[in-house]
Amino acid sequence: LANGLGLTPQMGWNSWNHYSCFIDEQIIRKTADAMVSTGLAKLGYEYVNIDDCWAEIARDDKGNLVPKNATFPSGIKALADYVHSKGLKLGIYSDAGYFTCSKTMPGSLGHEEQDAKTFAAWGIDYLKYDNCNNDGSRPTVRYPVMTRALMKAGRPIFLSLCEWGDLHPALWGDKVGNSWRTTNDIADNWDSMISRADQNEVYAEYARPGGWNDPDMLEVGNGGMTKDEYIVHFSLWAISKAPLLLGCDLTSITKDIMDVVANKEVIAVNQDSLGVQAKKVRMEGDQEIWAGPLSGYRVAVVLLNRGPIRYSVTANWDDIGIPQGSVVEARDLWEHRTLKTHFVSNISATLDSHSCKLYVLKPIS
Ligand code: GLA
Repeated sequence: LANGLGLTPQMGWNSWNHYSCFIDEQIIRKTADAMVSTGLAKLGYEYVNIDDCWAEIARDDKGNLVPKNATFPSGIKALADYVHSKGLKLGIYSDAGYFTCSKTMPGSLGHEEQDAKTFAAWGIDYLKYDNCNNDGSRPTVRYPVMTRALMKAGRPIFLSLCEWGDLHPALWGDKVGNSWRTTNDIADNWDSMISRADQNEVYAEYARPGGWNDPDMLEVGNGGMTKDEYIVHFSLWAISKAPLLLGCDLTSITKDIMDVVANKEVIAVNQDSLGVQAKKVRMEGDQEIWAGPLSGYRVAVVLLNRGPIRYSVTANWDDIGIPQGSVVEARDLWEHRTLKTHFVSNISATLDSHSCKLYVLKPIS
């Protein structure tokens, strides 16, 4: 969407994957505090996003959305001021239907202009716009109404479309929002995570600065996968130019989880200025190569073992778009090591079950 936002994939946090409906203003404040104190903010994580369940079920007598008194007693404006005072941005959630997915609060269908104005007045910077409980009309009819409303609201607001890939949003999303979900909801386990990466990969050619494919938010740190599996999760999201929206409890984040989500070099792949999503360039049984170009004639490549046993995986120059005969230097982004070998036609690694390597390759002659 040409609103000047999302020139690289959005980075931040969202309440849903860890807290689901059990959120309140204290959690949002403490998360903003933690984003800064852990150093995540300095690495580029900037949006603190409230998901479903923040509003009363009834609008006020003028038709305005009302923050839930029991959990957001200070209101959203005060929360936005607080989050802004930390140098961060505040996101909120609504729905292109009569009620949101939780059915505990109203959606914005029929109230788009009013709600967009409310969000802008509160100082909201980001809207996730869901698709539940709608009138049966197409998302391509309902979503652009909110797009136009936001663009008239007088404040730049990032628009994240959440219609779960129902009507191939990659085909129309770039005129409507800054990112679009290509999948239904992720869960905190390997099969769910890897299948979402697969479904999202199909649309790689539609991603670009200003509009990104969204395979759903990160589960890293929620406890359902091994560290290796979370490294695969973060590597695939990074190379796929997916939104990096953390979904764990930031107030108790461990060193192991910080090792994954605070890896500067992996974040830099995601945020690279070229903005090209990687594709799966070779599949051999459970072994896969994912690759995509970066700025400066570099290539990011993931060597992935999806299978149950240890296996050797090789990426050939032909598969990943490096000219034959090129001598290449390789940086291992998880080991933080530039490999001594100069590679001439391929690069290989032996990988444990459900693990990967992420290399940045740079031709040197
Ligand atoms: C849908 C969305 C989720 C989350 C929930 C909230 O399922 O896809 O990401 O926002 O609604 O109810």
